[in-house]
Amino acid sequence: MTMPTPQCPWRMQVHHIKQETPDVWTLSLICHDAYSYRAGQYALVSIRNTAETLRAYTLSSTPGVSEYITLTVRRLEGGVGSEWLTQDVKRGDYLWLSDAQGEFTCDNQTNHRFLLLAAGCGVTPIMSMRRWLAKHRPDADVQVIFNVRSPQDVIFAEEWRHYPVTLVAENNATHGFLAGRLTRRLLESVPDLAMRTVMTCGPAAYMAWVEEQIGALGVTHFFKEKFFTPVAPAASSGLKIETLQPVREFYAPVGSTLLEALESNQVPVAAACRAGVCGCCKTKVISGQYTVSSTMTLTDQEVAEGYVLACSCHPASDMVLA
Ligand code: FES
Repeated sequence: MTMPTPQCPWRMQVHHIKQETPDVWTLSLICHDAYSYRAGQYALVSIRNTAETLRAYTLSSTPGVSEYITLTVRRLEGGVGSEWLTQDVKRGDYLWLSDAQGEFTCDNQTNHRFLLLAAGCGVTPIMSMRRWLAKHRPDADVQVIFNVRSPQDVIFAEEWRHYPVTLVAENNATHGFLAGRLTRRLLESVPDLAMRTVMTCGPAAYMAWVEEQIGALGVTHFFKEKFFTPVAPAASSGLKIETLQPVREFYAPVGSTLLEALESNQVPVAAACRAGVCGCCKTKVISGQYTVSSTMTLTDQEVAEGYVLACSCHPASDMVLA
């Protein structure tokens, strides 16, 4: 089987698949070469083993601890990557992954007090780091608060029995769960909160709320998984962006990326890494000024023809896109 794209050079075989919750599965992979990654990082996966579609998934396993490399994936209706991984991929199949990427990791933190906050599928890097801390910082004081929709949605339910965790269920809270959502009062109840390194992963609105509350409570060491980029509301002023397909006209606030402007105006655009690495967001500019921070996946000819990676393109004037 040949490599679908140089961006995903790591061939891995599915050893087994475990259903975690009604809509989340963990795929355990074997890599016959030494695959290097850090707890909390993610990889791009070549969907259907093609070059056209790459999607980013957290590596939910922990290097040096987990027996397999794992991806934990929530099935999203119509999600081209998640439906393939959770419905079509079977034991024994091969997947192609990129190098591990991302800076959301705890192995560079010297603090010995942590608060890990997760919601939903955002628990995947949190569990990866929790295992890492248990192995490499066994004396660390690690508190975890994990929000789920209902008790049946606890991902890694068995494994959480080994670690202290506060489970919060929005619906049908049973024994062992706090009812509702993460609250400021719950955050305030965490001992030595301001002294802790706080790391969070979950839906964008959840992380934005956490960031606001944590800042107000005096936490200075705060990290969130930028992989889940918030979609900002559409701007009513700024640089004018026109698209020809579909025919649209909208504004990009100064300082935003072209990808942010497209997404906040619901213009269809694919994005995986959001860091100028995967090439998903390739877009053609017909006119306008811009700066770019990455052209990594583009050929010289494509750059000359006006192609950009939308996630790495900052408009500097009004622009027209193909
Ligand atoms: S989203 Fe990966 S290069 Fe833009």
